[in-house]
Amino acid sequence: PLVSMTEMLKTAQKNQYAVGQFNLNNMEFTQAILQAAEEEKSPVICGVSEGAARYMGGFETVVTLVKALMKEYNVTVPVAIHLDHGSSFENCMKAMKAGFTSVMIDGSHHPLEYNIEMTKRVVDAAHAIGVSVEAELGRVGGQEDDLIVSEAEEAYAIPAECKELVEQTGVDCFAAALGSVHGPYKGEPNLSFTRMEEIQQLVEVPFVLHGGTGIPTEDVKKAIRYGHAKVNVNTESQMSSAAKVREVLAEQPDQYDPRKYLGPARDAIKETVKFKMQEFGSSNQA
Ligand code: G3H
Ligand code: ZN
Repeated sequence: PLVSMTEMLKTAQKNQYAVGQFNLNNMEFTQAILQAAEEEKSPVICGVSEGAARYMGGFETVVTLVKALMKEYNVTVPVAIHLDHGSSFENCMKAMKAGFTSVMIDGSHHPLEYNIEMTKRVVDAAHAIGVSVEAELGRVGGQEDDLIVSEAEEAYAIPAECKELVEQTGVDCFAAALGSVHGPYKGEPNLSFTRMEEIQQLVEVPFVLHGGTGIPTEDVKKAIRYGHAKVNVNTESQMSSAAKVREVLAEQPDQYDPRKYLGPARDAIKETVKFKMQEFGSSNQA
């Protein structure tokens, strides 16, 4: 069934695993992610950035596609459709109107007071219709679509501010930037577990780890122990699908049928997603 993230994440936090948010980029990603979830018997969050929604034909197209595929595949596991890094109250409203069951309002680049005020408005609207909300503090480095944060702008979330934001807004889950990066890491990721622990002592809602690509398994497991119940992955699926397309086209330079290279790419995404679900411990939890 199509659900919000609220129950999924509470259960995950209680049972010490994380639900993966896997980002949609096109139809093949959507197929691969839903198939992987059903085969792994895992809850799943379909992440949709504003850029990806534009590319795929708008919020309504995304919702229609996810619903149709869930029906076609007889999906029984819980699925959430989540706006990733929503940039404004208006865009969150548009996503909710189209049928998204969850939204992230990313006010992390705004001053704290404004972030709280904007997040609170989104929470009030969302909770009235059973939609879950994620907020962010600190700055995740790297690039995801329209969102670019230079190394100089990267910032670790401040524990007291996290407590203030969560308490004043009533969000369902919370992304504290603690050294993770969107896209491939340059060198080893440097997550601050000390600060993670400090925030965990102040904040009760489940945490979200952005930039899930390239974080060593040990660190992912540690982050789960320190309160993370959601891990976001996009680049890793993109890389495995692109590698497969390159491989097929190198072997068959005259190939022109998209089904012949996007089909194998879809299988590669599915494998990546299944592997992540096992790593996060969400397999066989639905
Ligand atoms: O919001 C999306 C994620 O944080 C994706 O990060 O592309 O590094 O896996 P990633
Ligand atoms: Zn992110």
